Amino acid sequence: MPQVRSRCQRRGPVGESVLASGVARVGGVLYCEGVALERIADEVGTPTYVYSAAVIRDRYARLDAALSAVPHRIHYTLKANSNRAVLRVLRHMNAGVDVVSGGELYRALKAGFVGADVLFGGVGKTEVELRQALEAGVLLINVESEAELRLLDRIAGELGVVAPMGIRVNPEVSVDSAHRYIKTGEKGAKFGVPLDEVLAVARVAATLPNIDLLALDMHIGSQLFRVDGYVDGTDRLIDLVDQLRREGIDTLMYLDIGGGLGVSYDAEESPSLELFAESIVPRVQRTGLTLLMEPGRFIVGNAGILLTRVLYRKRTGGRDFLIGDAGMTELLRPSHYDAYHRIEAVHAAHAQMTADVVGPVCESGDFLALDRTMDEANAGDLLAVHDVGAYGYVMASNYNTRPRGAEVLVDGDQFAVVTARERYEDLVHLERDDPDWRDG
Ligand code: LLP
Repeated sequence: MPQVRSRCQRRGPVGESVLASGVARVGGVLYCEGVALERIADEVGTPTYVYSAAVIRDRYARLDAALSAVPHRIHYTLKANSNRAVLRVLRHMNAGVDVVSGGELYRALKAGFVGADVLFGGVGKTEVELRQALEAGVLLINVESEAELRLLDRIAGELGVVAPMGIRVNPEVSVDSAHRYIKTGEKGAKFGVPLDEVLAVARVAATLPNIDLLALDMHIGSQLFRVDGYVDGTDRLIDLVDQLRREGIDTLMYLDIGGGLGVSYDAEESPSLELFAESIVPRVQRTGLTLLMEPGRFIVGNAGILLTRVLYRKRTGGRDFLIGDAGMTELLRPSHYDAYHRIEAVHAAHAQMTADVVGPVCESGDFLALDRTMDEANAGDLLAVHDVGAYGYVMASNYNTRPRGAEVLVDGDQFAVVTARERYEDLVHLERDDPDWRDG
C-alpha cells in the first residue's frame, strides 16, 4: 500500500501547508493515509466514519509547539469526537481532556486518562456529576454561577475534599464565528458568569471552606478565525486576575482560554497558529499562570471523512439528486448550521455535475449539500464527505430507527473498526416488552 501524505495544500489555522486531512488520491482512488477507502467500504460497509491518526497527532503537536514558550496543557475537548480510540491517540501525545458530562468523564477514564488530566465544564452540571468529578479527582471544575459554586462547596464538604475550581467568565467579546449557534462569549449568552459579577463570585469562592479557586476560564465560541476575540477575552481575564491579586486573592494557578480555533472546510483564510501564539503567549507569561486550552475541532475536525454510498440518482423539478445512505442522521452540520462539507467521489470522476446530496431520512431538511457542483456520481458510487472528524459521529442520531454507522481509525497502512456499526437489536434493547406498570 502506498504511504500517502495529503496532496492538499489547504490553508488551515496554521496558515501553511499541513497534513490537511490524511486523505489523498493515488492512482485515481482516494486513500486515507495508506489505506484505500474502497477497501474500508468493502470490509466495513457504509456509512462509515474514517479517522486519520496521523492528522490528529500532527494537529496536537503543532498546537503544543506553538504554545511551548509558556507552561501550558492542551485539554482536548471530548464533545468534538469522544471515540475512545481517538482519545487513546491523544493520551499517548500527553494531552489532557475537557469533559462536560458524567458520560464524557466515564469515557475519558475508560480511555486511560486519570482525574488529574480532566477539566470538567458545562453550563448545567447535576449534583451527581459534580460528585463524580470530585470522586475522580479532576484537575479543575469550571463553575458557571454562584449557585453552582455553593453546591460544589457543599458536595466537597460532604466528601471531605477541597474542590479545585475555576470560574467560567463570560468575557463579553464579539467573535466572528460561522454560525450564531456556536458563539458563546457574547453579552447575554447562557454560558459563564457575567463579566461584572466575576469578582463578587470570586470573593465568595475565597471564603468557602471546601473550595480552592484555581482558575479563570473562558470559551468564546467555535470555528473562530480571528485572533482579536481571544486577545480581548484574555485581556479581560488578566484584568480580573490583577484585581483579585490586588485584593489579596492569590490562589490562581491557571488561565483557561477555551477552545474554538477554526479549521478549513472550504477555502477559508485563517490566521496562523504562530500569530495566535504570538498574541496570547506573552500576555499569559506575564501572569505567571499556566495556560490551559480546550480545543476540539482544531485537533480532529479535518482528520475524518464520512464514507457513503449513492443509492439512487434521481432527477426531479429540474434538479439532480444523489440519494445516499448517509444524511442528517450521520452528519447534522449541513442541515443544522448550514455548514459546508466538501464531497468527492472515491473513484476519480471524469465529469462534474450539480446536485443536491441528500440522505434517506423522511425530512426535506435531510441533506449533506445543496446545489453543489461536484464530481459526477451515480447509483453504487462511493462518496467521501470531508472534515467530519469533529461534531460528526457525536451528533449522529437514530432518527427513523437508523443504526449509527461504524467508526474506523487508520494509522499508517493499517485500519481498525473502533466502533462497530449498530444493529437493530442495539436500538431497542432498552425498551421493555413487558413494562412494569406501577400505580400512579
Ligand atoms: N470548550 C467549551 C467550553 C466548549 O463549549 C467547546 C465547544 C469547546 C471547548 C471546543 O470548541 P472547538 O475547539 O471544538 O471549537 N456542534 C458545533 C460546535 C459546538 C461547539 C460547542 N462547544 C458544530 O458542529 O460546529
